[in-house]
Amino acid sequence: MSSDNIWTHKGTFLLAAVGSAVGLGNLWRFPYLVGEHGGGAFLLVYALCVFAIGVPILIAEIMLGRNSRRCPIMGMRFLTRCHKTSRAWEIIGWLGGVSALLILSFYSVISGWAIHYLGEMLTGSLRGADAATLASDFASLISSPIKLTLYHTLFLVICAYIVARGVHRGLESGLRLLMPTLLVILLVVLFYAAAAGDMLAASDFLLSFSLSDLSLEGWLVALGQSFFTLSLGMGAIMAYGAYMPSETSLTLTAFTVALIDTLVAILAGLAIFALVFGAGLSPDEGPGLMFVSLPLAFTAMPSGALIGAIFFVLVLGAAVSSAISLIEPVAAYLVERFSLSRVTAVLVVVGVAWALGLATVASFNLWAEQSPFHDLFGRSAFEVLELTTHITLPFCGLLIALFAGWSLTQTESMKEMHTRAGWLSLWRFLVRFIAPTGVAFVFLRALPYVEGYWLPAIVAIVTVGAFAAYRTLGEHEGHHGG
Ligand code: TRP
Repeated sequence: MSSDNIWTHKGTFLLAAVGSAVGLGNLWRFPYLVGEHGGGAFLLVYALCVFAIGVPILIAEIMLGRNSRRCPIMGMRFLTRCHKTSRAWEIIGWLGGVSALLILSFYSVISGWAIHYLGEMLTGSLRGADAATLASDFASLISSPIKLTLYHTLFLVICAYIVARGVHRGLESGLRLLMPTLLVILLVVLFYAAAAGDMLAASDFLLSFSLSDLSLEGWLVALGQSFFTLSLGMGAIMAYGAYMPSETSLTLTAFTVALIDTLVAILAGLAIFALVFGAGLSPDEGPGLMFVSLPLAFTAMPSGALIGAIFFVLVLGAAVSSAISLIEPVAAYLVERFSLSRVTAVLVVVGVAWALGLATVASFNLWAEQSPFHDLFGRSAFEVLELTTHITLPFCGLLIALFAGWSLTQTESMKEMHTRAGWLSLWRFLVRFIAPTGVAFVFLRALPYVEGYWLPAIVAIVTVGAFAAYRTLGEHEGHHGG
């Protein structure tokens, strides 16, 4: 790979990884989960998961990318050759590519909703609307396949444009504009929420420490969330890592990404709940929180439409910067493997995701009750897609942790991490044993029939995994990356 595919600035990887990490998962899902699972107690568990499991795997993913300097699929092929391991480990790249297309297909439909609400706020058409009007506005949005397809298309076009312009003129300059803007917007919304909303109630709701609300389910949710929010298990981070300059410290970068991602989630949560409580609404609206309760809160507040519009720009920007990290790994593969031009490669990826996305569009209306998906899996296309990624992401993350932990030699890992020997040993321990165990939990949780057989199932997975890793990976000194 030529050096023109290295980020121009040392800090760009950080921007890109934060851009990928901060998305709908932070702005909507995280605050809701914290409120539901014990506030401060959940936060503690979440932080533990992020730093004991998320960060080590984040480091592992960047390491595989930077060491191979290729897209995830070609990179894994290269690494299995260099380390004389079984080629089966290439599945990390393939599984990641499939997950990317699936996630992108529904992520884009949901992100499209933010375009709709941005429009509603800008035109002021919801001014003075009451709860019933807002609920019916949302219902009429999702019941219209035409509208949903239109927004879905528009969203993908924006993302495709950025990625097609290339690593430097597209991703890099896009992110350098997008990320600082998003930070400013987040602060504006936070100050507005503090002034117009009820920050006390919000912090009470989010941060009050309640151990009794923290169940085993809470631990699992925290683990799953830490995984999804850091964009792990799919090769997004690996692809971005491949463009990272060799001298940047991996450990410090990974910690910073995790810290910023968590901070954004907490600040967004405080702002959202302050607005919701300030308007006297209930915090447990589920999926409707961001698209029904929040718009309602905005319509009830002074200059709410303006701040509302600004807020939906934030949601949209965060979604765009996440979606481009879903396009990049697969597009890079098509470019590297088939020498397609970047524009063609992006068009192929986005075209496939667009077509798949129509199934998600239909699952809110035409296919809401009955569809081939209901016949086969007993649930809607959207739910099937989402569930699939709940399985593939942790599974792929498990493999990544094992591969990085067992196949890269001490010297190689050290070269990437630039850190003290103690930290390196800690990382290797976490990534060889602790992370696979934790991730096996999340993975098994998605499989319905495992319930009741937790312990044996986990012991089995980790034992087989460690054994397979040990047999097929082993240590082969002498390889030098890139
Ligand atoms: N992290 C993003 C969010 O919180 C979602 C996301 C983007 C993602 N890319 C990913 C999740 C790759 C898993 C894998 O919304």
